[in-house]
Amino acid sequence: MKLSVVGCGYLGAVHAAAMASIGHDVVGIDVDERKIESLSAGRAPFFEPGLAEILTEGIESGRLRFSTDMADAAGAQVHFIGVGTPQVKDGYAADMTYVNAAVDALLPHLSPGDVVAGKSTVPVGTAAALAERVDPTGATLVWNPEFLREGWAVQDTIDPDRLVAGVPEGPEGLRAAQVLRDVYHPSVAKGTPFLVMDRATAELVKVSANAFLATKISFINAMAEIAEVTGADVTQLADAIGYDDRIGRKFLGAGIGFGGGCLPKDIRAFSARAEELGRGESVAFLREVDEINLRRRERAVQLVVEGLGGQVFEKNVTVLGAAFKPHSDDIRDSPALDVAVRLHGLGANVTVTDPAAINNARRVHPQLTYVEDRDLALTGADAVILVTEWDEYRRELDPTHASTLAAGRVVVDGRNGLDAAAWRAAGWTYLGMGRP
Ligand code: UGA
Repeated sequence: MKLSVVGCGYLGAVHAAAMASIGHDVVGIDVDERKIESLSAGRAPFFEPGLAEILTEGIESGRLRFSTDMADAAGAQVHFIGVGTPQVKDGYAADMTYVNAAVDALLPHLSPGDVVAGKSTVPVGTAAALAERVDPTGATLVWNPEFLREGWAVQDTIDPDRLVAGVPEGPEGLRAAQVLRDVYHPSVAKGTPFLVMDRATAELVKVSANAFLATKISFINAMAEIAEVTGADVTQLADAIGYDDRIGRKFLGAGIGFGGGCLPKDIRAFSARAEELGRGESVAFLREVDEINLRRRERAVQLVVEGLGGQVFEKNVTVLGAAFKPHSDDIRDSPALDVAVRLHGLGANVTVTDPAAINNARRVHPQLTYVEDRDLALTGADAVILVTEWDEYRRELDPTHASTLAAGRVVVDGRNGLDAAAWRAAGWTYLGMGRP
């Protein structure tokens, strides 16, 4: 099938390349010339395992190309909208400028029978409003939310755990759902659940899924706060409740909490939208979820201060990680970098290391010192704090080896990812989050 993908960021670039990899003829469109140049040369403009491979393969096969000209979308049967919906500068709502601009720019190139499939995470009600602009062209607007995780984006796109199609009522909607089934033919053939629903439900599925995940993380972090005043261990608690398969152990990782370009802004946009709908109270708990989350960053800072005997001024603190999670170079709303910045604000000499995110971090926070080599970064440290649980730190950093580099023996485990017993055995004061 001929497809266009409008917006070539984390979502769109991966979607375009993944669709080409399953046999479609795809054009990816973005207004950012540098991004298009890089993608056209087969270079991923961000770190995402497996993306470079499918980009190169798609371009070489002739099935994948990129353009800054929206007119190149003409002739495609399905047009995916994958532009960003960041938080507005002066509030909690989602900034819909890019979605509106993308749809408006696409309108002149649509033909009757085309399907416009929104993938961006949007406030419920967006699709209904956009449909008023798309309907006169004879194209059908559907909402087809994306559930990919950064770091696993290629796999999640090619082999998702479910597909959601929010379609208008009537034969036109059923036809559009069939078109999406054809797009995702390998998953459909394999029996992946393909759920057809109305557009508002599809929009809500996405925001409520992210709200649930954020709530689960803040729940366990709230338990960590209680553990801290009772001498309990939140990791053992998580293991024990996680064995109940109604609860499940996933997303019960207590630590410095969630960040990234999705969870934080999505729960805020959900609150803002619920307020507009007169139902603010229904998701008022999301404010608490946000606050618990932000408190844990401060708690990690406090542990470093305590570990160093009450103050960090002019102490050398090595921060292991900058990305909001491992397998990503994304530093948007990164709890890891936030902790580093807070420590710097207290007068510590902060050295940050990360296997992938240093360049991005340096652009936003040039005041911090960045060292690519892990061992060099550890040299002379009075305290070490793990904030992004890359294997390079979690599994591969031997505490005895770390002792030969660092000046002090304080390690704060902001992700509860280190082997506490091994670090203690090597002579370190180990401080976890919500652990005695
Ligand atoms: C999230 C969702 O997981 C995806 O399903 C969704 O498609 C995506 O947002 C999106 O809206 O596009 P992502 O932002 O890639 O994906 O990151 P997650 O893997 O969800 O992690 C989010 C944050 O939570 C990270 O900072 C991570 O370190 C933190 N986290 C995760 C915890 O603090 N504890 C956990 O147990 C799990």
